[in-house]
Amino acid sequence: PDSASTVAGIIERHHDREGALLPVLHDVQDRFGHIPPEVLPQIADALGMSTAEIHGVVTFYHDFRQAPAGRHVVKICRAEACQAVGADQLAALVRDRLGLDWHDTSRDGRVTLEPVFCLGLCACGPAAMVDGRLVARLDRDKLDRLLEGLT
Ligand code: FES
Repeated sequence: PDSASTVAGIIERHHDREGALLPVLHDVQDRFGHIPPEVLPQIADALGMSTAEIHGVVTFYHDFRQAPAGRHVVKICRAEACQAVGADQLAALVRDRLGLDWHDTSRDGRVTLEPVFCLGLCACGPAAMVDGRLVARLDRDKLDRLLEGLT
């Protein structure tokens, strides 16, 4: 099905509920991997909002991607327990190594860098998630090996 009918189906599923916008956006992202800008007017129409309002919500919540992710997604935990064991220094290092800021994707489409707030590995931080795989006790060496493995 084309994207308009996919989006219509998603809207159909949620439009009766209060605050339909967030569930609609989550489903759109699940389906397309990001929120394609061209679907905003359709959602706006269906929910009686303006495209600008929806754009505002998409940019406000960092969970929503405005562009497709890279081939690999690296998430670094930035919550307290991990910060207490050096996550900040690691975060600085990873940003430096990749030359990316949070939520950015490298130009070659290789990797997207995202912050995450607790991965449930607080007892063995700093924690990260690479392509859906949890990584505990991240350190400089482990990080370098991980990044090298991303092709
Ligand atoms: Fe990092 Fe919980 S604070 S995993």
